[in-house]
Amino acid sequence: MKAIAVLTSGGDGPGLNAVIRSVTRQALAHGVEVYGVRWGYRGLINGEISPLTSRDVGGKMGYGGTILGTARCPEFKDMKVRRTALRNLHQNGIEGLVVIGGNGSLTGALALNEMGLPTYGIPASIDNDINGTDMAVGVDTTLNTILDAIDRIKDTASSHQRAFLIEVMGRDCGYLALASGLAGGAEMIMVPERPGPPVEEIAAAVSEAYVHGKHHCIMVVAEGWKPGTRAVEEYLHTYKDDLGFDVRVTVLGHVQRGGRPSAFDRLLATRMGAFAVEHLLSGESGHMAALRGSQLEPFPLADAVAKLRPLDMRLLELSSVMD
Ligand code: ADP
Ligand code: F6P
Repeated sequence: MKAIAVLTSGGDGPGLNAVIRSVTRQALAHGVEVYGVRWGYRGLINGEISPLTSRDVGGKMGYGGTILGTARCPEFKDMKVRRTALRNLHQNGIEGLVVIGGNGSLTGALALNEMGLPTYGIPASIDNDINGTDMAVGVDTTLNTILDAIDRIKDTASSHQRAFLIEVMGRDCGYLALASGLAGGAEMIMVPERPGPPVEEIAAAVSEAYVHGKHHCIMVVAEGWKPGTRAVEEYLHTYKDDLGFDVRVTVLGHVQRGGRPSAFDRLLATRMGAFAVEHLLSGESGHMAALRGSQLEPFPLADAVAKLRPLDMRLLELSSVMD
């Protein structure tokens, strides 16, 4: 291959710039030209493609967001639209593509690969819902952001003897809630993978925490959990005089996506970027770089997007012992 391109797609997250840097420098080290595509698949369709030099990607590793920009581009699901994208790449002499993103973005990468463009994926999503990799780029930083918030909220919760519902991101996956709740010593963790418990049971647990002499009751709720944070808030508010704790809600929202990537994420990003280029140049495509234990391995994109990464239910059991 003489030239490859790289793009970031879907939701941003910490560590994307470190991946772009690694992809660029590894390709240049092999004498291969690198092109950056702006705004994810939208830029591929509109031809927003320009060369990247080693200097272009320098000094950005420690910053959140993505220097290439990202977007959600629903029209990319249309085969005709993807053909336009392929034509744009072809016109620039680009023979391979590295896609950095979550489940949707990797589905797009698989579709391009099936249309004949050698494509390699890098799992990057704060949700940690990508099947086949122990960790995606961005997850570790986001967990630390959430943990910082839990620690701060705990100060206020204890000082005022309050119960707190802390809602975290994750789309349909409970990983962020489970991992941060465990690490943050939450009294309860609610995830979409485990239905319930009913609000009455949640209220009973809050009341029990009070009876046991706790000064706070922290509940970490995944945004995808049903019946949802607000339903629990309403119920607890109605019965606050019986429970012993008043209740407050904090929805962490997009503060979870930005910020300086952790050492773990920078390292993972650097390893995955270089791995993807190495494998793409050696003729392998239709795979993503996957962290399996401590090693990186190729993992088929088709299997990565076939289902969501299952939650480790043993961790959920552990959380019920630790509350
Ligand atoms: P993420 O990659 O973070 O999961 P999305 O699910 O929003 O984010 O997907 C990002 C983009 O990936 C979409 O906006 C679309 O451009 C592309 N994409 C998603 N699903 C498909 C699909 N089935 N075929 C082709 N492209 C897709
Ligand atoms: O996939 C990352 C994520 O932050 C999810 O956790 C969340 O549900 C979604 O993206 C929010 O998307 P948007 O930034 O488009 O509102």
